[in-house]
Amino acid sequence: MAVRIIVGAQWGDEGKGKIVDLLSAKADLVARYQGGANSGHTVVIAGTKYVLHLIPSGILNENTVCVVGNGVVVDPVALMDEIKLLESMGIKVAGRLFVSHRAHLILPYHKLLDEAKETGNTQDPIGTTGRGIGPAYVDKMNRVGIRILDLLDRKIFEKKLRRNILEKNKILTNIYQVDGLDVDKIVEEYLDFDQKITPYIKDVSLILDRFVKEGKEVLLEGAQGTLLDIDFGTYPYVTSSSPTSGGACSGVGIGPTCIDDVLGVIKAYTTRVGLGPFPTEFTGTDVNLQELGNEFGATTGRPRRCGWFDAIIAGYSARVNGISSFVLTKLDVLDSLETIKICVAYKYNGKTITSFPSDMHILRNCEPVYETYPGWRTPTTQIHHYADLPRQARNYVGAIEKLSKTKISIVSVGSGREQTIIR
Ligand code: GDP
Ligand code: IMO
Ligand code: MG
Repeated sequence: MAVRIIVGAQWGDEGKGKIVDLLSAKADLVARYQGGANSGHTVVIAGTKYVLHLIPSGILNENTVCVVGNGVVVDPVALMDEIKLLESMGIKVAGRLFVSHRAHLILPYHKLLDEAKETGNTQDPIGTTGRGIGPAYVDKMNRVGIRILDLLDRKIFEKKLRRNILEKNKILTNIYQVDGLDVDKIVEEYLDFDQKITPYIKDVSLILDRFVKEGKEVLLEGAQGTLLDIDFGTYPYVTSSSPTSGGACSGVGIGPTCIDDVLGVIKAYTTRVGLGPFPTEFTGTDVNLQELGNEFGATTGRPRRCGWFDAIIAGYSARVNGISSFVLTKLDVLDSLETIKICVAYKYNGKTITSFPSDMHILRNCEPVYETYPGWRTPTTQIHHYADLPRQARNYVGAIEKLSKTKISIVSVGSGREQTIIR
């Protein structure tokens, strides 16, 4: 039994949802530790597709307890909608889902500020999901955030909410020249959440402590990915939390000595949604992985930018997360290609670079150096044993392991639970 962190090793959408669902069949508890409803984690079971935004991807295994940690920013409207949707699909959520009383709330002014910052002309846009994530974490760090536990005392909640709306309205109208919010309307709408959310509120750190001490199997589910991390990502084109494994302990309230394993989920090629540099991005004349891999955002529906696998990113991710092994996803998407490339270095100003640059000006001007591998041109979606993969596919997997200096313990060849090769 182990406590295992599942982390996205690229720019998000690596297939974390599928892998967490798969591993949660044997897990007692799955916890989300950061992010919010900006995530879209897809799980496909017997042809039915579930997209989870705030609720851990373990919820589809009926024996797994699911918790949302203090590190997550919770939009109470999105949470209630997601619970309702899952229950309408026959998934029992009540009594199995618990949300940290310390988690901060996303409120309507966070979404307005997110949108205003993206569309106003005071700052360069990031291409956010518009879910209010950045402004909610700003309030948390600025010590003016409203936590779930504040919802439980109507007087305190109303006081904090009124004070914050008045302040944000000034910013919205004076800086961004957009309409502010109707204070009374929001107060009336949100005061009721105490009754709706009370059954789900718990001290998540205490629950985790109990499960860990009892030697239970625990998965800590990361959202987004390493290159969207506020510290280690392609700043400023990042999210406002810590998706890297370092964020897991502070996001649920357990200590680093409890962690046994870090699994990095990595796609067999690279994608990114939103703005920011992307060295191996296709320029138009390359293969259409967007169509082959159905690369459209699970939260916003935006087309994902696509490119070849980047081994510099894989090695960087393995290092900053302390990844024990990778789960390689979407290998099947490459099934029809004649040749496949892997970026093994960057050329910058005539020099060869083999480490991931932290300066976006440098990254933007890096030219990928590729190695080319022969494709296998055989369907892999029905293969269950590693040895049955075509030789060229095994060579490709082996090349990724060698270049990233990290072993690959699971290969995913389709969105279904059964389309998985465990080595
Ligand atoms: P997440 O945010 O990391 O959970 O990933 P998303 O759910 O946003 O995006 C991954 C997409 O790829 C989803 O539509 C999954 O159903 C799908 N998927 C996951 N693993 C595989 C795989 O091995 N092959 C294929 N073809 N699709 C996959
Ligand atoms: P999952 O968990 C891919 C990206 C946005 C934008 C940047 C900041 O499904 O992998 P934000 O709304 O967080 O302030 O947006 O981060 N982004 C994601 N990209 N997958 C995600 O989540 C993402 N969550 C945020 O597109 O570039
Ligand atoms: Mg996603």
